[in-house]
Amino acid sequence: MRARKKVLIVDDAADIRELLEITLGRMKLDTFNARNIDQAHALLKRETFDLCLTNMRLPDGTGLELIKHIRHRYPQVPVAMISAYACLETAVNTLKAGAFDYLTQPVDLTRLRELVSRALRPSSDSTATAQRLVGESMPIRTLRKHIAKLAQSQAPVYISGESGSGKELVARLIHEQGPRTHLPFIPVNCAAIPSELMESEFFGHRKGSFSGAIEDKPGLFQAAHRGTLFLDEVADLPLAMQVKLLRAIQERAVRSVGEQQELVIDVRILCATHKDLGAEVAAGRFRADLYYRLNVIEIQVPPLRERRDDIETLANHILKRLAADAGQPPASLNAQALDALKGYRFPGNVRELENMLERAHTLSENQQIEASDLRLTERKSAVESGLPDLTQIDNLEAYLESIERQLLLQALEETRWNRTAAAQRLRLSFRSMRYRLKKLGLD
Ligand SMILES: Nc1ncnc2c1ncn2[C@@H]1O[C@H](COP(=O)(O)OP(=O)(O)OP(=O)(O)O)[C@@H](O)[C@H]1O
Ligand SMILES: [Mg+2]
Repeated sequence: MRARKKVLIVDDAADIRELLEITLGRMKLDTFNARNIDQAHALLKRETFDLCLTNMRLPDGTGLELIKHIRHRYPQVPVAMISAYACLETAVNTLKAGAFDYLTQPVDLTRLRELVSRALRPSSDSTATAQRLVGESMPIRTLRKHIAKLAQSQAPVYISGESGSGKELVARLIHEQGPRTHLPFIPVNCAAIPSELMESEFFGHRKGSFSGAIEDKPGLFQAAHRGTLFLDEVADLPLAMQVKLLRAIQERAVRSVGEQQELVIDVRILCATHKDLGAEVAAGRFRADLYYRLNVIEIQVPPLRERRDDIETLANHILKRLAADAGQPPASLNAQALDALKGYRFPGNVRELENMLERAHTLSENQQIEASDLRLTERKSAVESGLPDLTQIDNLEAYLESIERQLLLQALEETRWNRTAAAQRLRLSFRSMRYRLKKLGLD
C-alpha cells in the first residue's frame, strides 16, 4: 500500500493549524507544521509533500513569496492559500503566483475538504492528452508547457487566437491535465444562445417560472459543478448577461430563474473568443470588471502561418485520422502539394487545413493528393477578397438580399433593436432603414 500523503501547513496561528491538522488527519493525511517561511523551507528540503496550505500573512514574509518559491523549486507540489480577507486583488495575485486555489477565513470545512481531495486526486496521464496538440514548432512547444502549468492552477484563463487555431482544444487540454479531469468539461458557445434564454441556460430555471418552463431544469453552471465551464465566443455575451455572469463568478453561487435559494457552485472558468477582447472593452461592448475577472491569465494560440513547420506534421496527422474514419489507408501529399500548403496563408488556420484535406482526400485518386486537389488558388481569391465563389451563386438578387439581411440583423442586435441607432451604424437614413426592413420582412 502507498504511504500516506503528506501535507505541509504554513500558518503562525495555532488555532488554524490545529483546525487544519484535525480535518486533514480525519482524511488520513499526514500533516507537517511550519510557523513561518523559514521553517517551511526547512521542511520542504527534508520531506516530499503532496500538498501545501499556506496563510497569506506570515511573520517573516507573505504567502505569495512561499508560493513562488514552491512553484520554482518544487513545481509538482500544488499550493493553496488561506487568506483572512475575501479580497479580489489578493485572490487574483494568489492565482497568478501559481496557487491552484484559495480559501478565505473563517475556513469553511466542506470547501477545505473538497479543495484537498481535488489537489490529491491523481490526474490522467498528461503526456497522452498533450499528444493531441500536434506540432513541434517553438510556439507549440511553449504552448504545451503553458498548458501543463495552467492545468495545475485554478485561475481563470482567457484563450485568445484566430478562428480555427485550436482554442477549444487548448481549453480541453487545460481541463484534462488538471485535477478536475474526471469531472465535467462543459463548453458553451455564448454566441449561439438567444439572449432571452440566456439566464435560464446558464443558471437553470424552476418549473413554471416562465411560459415554456415545463419542468425544473439545471443550468450550465450546475452541470459544470466541480469541473470546468468553457465560455466560448465570450465577447458575444450581451451586456445584461455579463453582469449576471460576473456576479456568479464573484459569489461562487448561482440562483436559478424562479428560485429563492442560491446554490454554491465550484467551477473553473476558461474563456475564448476570436475577437480582441481588450478592444471590445475599449468600445464599451464588454464590461471591464468582467474582463479583469476572466483574463487573470491570457494564453495565445498562434496562427498556423506563424508555425509553418507544423503544417506537414498536422497534415499527416489529419490524413491519418480521415483514413481511419473511412477505413482506408491514409492518403499522402506529393511534393508540390506539400509546398503549396507550406506557402499558403491559412486565414482559417487548422480548421481550414482539415476541411481542405477532407475534400482533397475524397477527390484524390489512388490515395495521392496533388496540388490541384487542394484548390488553393480559389481559396486565396475567395477568402482574401472577401467575395464568394461564383459557383455558389445562382441568383444574384437573392444572394445580395441575404447579405443585406445578415448585416441589418447584426446592426440591430448590436444596438439592441434600436432602429435609429442601427441606421446610424450603417450610415443609412431612417427612411431607407425602414424601407429595407419592410422589404426583407424584418419590421
Ligand atoms: N495543434 C493541433 N493539433 C491537432 N489538432 C488541432 C490543433 N489545433 C487545432 N486542431 C484541430 O483543429 C480544429 C479547430 O480547432 P478548435 O475548434 O480548437 O479551434 P478554435 O480556435 O476553437 O476555432 P473557432 O474559432 O472556429 O471556434 C479542431 O478539429 C482541432 O482538433
Ligand atoms: Mg472554437
